[in-house]
Amino acid sequence: MAAQSMGYKVVVLDPGLQSPAGSVADRHIAADYLDPAGLRELAAIASAVTTEFENVPAAALEFLAQSARVTPSASSVAIAQDRIEEKSFLAGSGVTVAPYAVLTSVQEARSVDPALLPGIVKSARLGYDGKGQARVSSQDEVEAAFVALGSRRCVIERLLDLDCEVSVIVARNERGETATWPVAENLHRDGILDVSIVPARVPEALANQARATATRVASALDYCGVLCVEMFVTHGDRLLVNEIAPRPHNSGHYTIDACVTSQFEQQARVLAGLPLGDTQPHGPAVMLNLLGDIWFADAGSTIPREPDWTAVLRHSRAKLHLYGKAEPRRGRKMGHVTCLGASIDEALATARAIKRDLAIPGVDEL
Ligand SMILES: Nc1ncnc2c1ncn2[C@@H]1O[C@H](COP(=O)(O)OP(=O)(O)O)[C@@H](O)[C@H]1O
Ligand SMILES: [Mg+2]
Repeated sequence: MAAQSMGYKVVVLDPGLQSPAGSVADRHIAADYLDPAGLRELAAIASAVTTEFENVPAAALEFLAQSARVTPSASSVAIAQDRIEEKSFLAGSGVTVAPYAVLTSVQEARSVDPALLPGIVKSARLGYDGKGQARVSSQDEVEAAFVALGSRRCVIERLLDLDCEVSVIVARNERGETATWPVAENLHRDGILDVSIVPARVPEALANQARATATRVASALDYCGVLCVEMFVTHGDRLLVNEIAPRPHNSGHYTIDACVTSQFEQQARVLAGLPLGDTQPHGPAVMLNLLGDIWFADAGSTIPREPDWTAVLRHSRAKLHLYGKAEPRRGRKMGHVTCLGASIDEALATARAIKRDLAIPGVDEL
């Protein structure tokens, strides 16, 4: 939609027949990411290609790069797709990561360094929203978790005592120019992003360090496009990089309503070889995720019904975004609301009211 408002025609390749992006695009190619005919059709039309989903196979991007500008590159995406590659890249580029080890066999799992316990075992590939993870506190549990995750390559990280979680969206273009948005403070529920508060309530020096770290990561990757760098804050002021996402990110959705240039417009600008847009915020924002759970009246119900959106729209500074996903499921991200305000407290008050009205848990934690 951002690219279309700048005058570009957009074609979406998405295997789903009911594709949210496909339904607003000028054309939807419903084909698997590796389907040769689908890829050839896309290659014949598109002069520039990006990905909104990090598990698009690198081979698809490499094929498209023969005839189109592809950002981010297949090699950047490949690093972000694999936690082992990601961790060794991050550690090698001079940023701090949580203490971790790679697990490739039951033997390695069984004999893991006790200094990493208690810890979290994370599958190397295809994890998201806390899926593909298990918390462990003994070597036996590490072994059990490794097996439960399919005996496939994993990492184990020490469980850190987090003060908070923050993220920075950074854009970098082919000329190596970079821009970052204000730092988002991210609150999770059951491993899924619940709320982002912007600007993050952290000291200015730490916020500056977070933005510098994100820029450093993007430059080290020679990255082209929009990148999210998720970070942990521990011991008041220690910053560790958790993971990176090679695309516009949920914690950057607030930029649509709260910044001069959104992460999506910036993605289109990089793709088109244009100069970067200004990332200045208009003011504070609180982004609230809308999960499929609120389509169900109570814990026992199986038939979804549309939530009452007047609970959101009666607030004059709340911006509702629904993605048009066909099927609401518990834990599935269906949309979000950006609450604007003169202060963070004002935006938080709106977010609390909406949470209460839509029966989203965790009103008191806000
Ligand atoms: N080493 C850790 N210590 C403490 N909490 C963690 C650690 N790793 C992950 N978490 C928690 O789990 C959430 C999801 O983990 P993450 O690695 O970001 O995976 P995902 O791909 O699911 O987002 C994090 O946002 C954080 O709340
Ligand atoms: Mg994460």
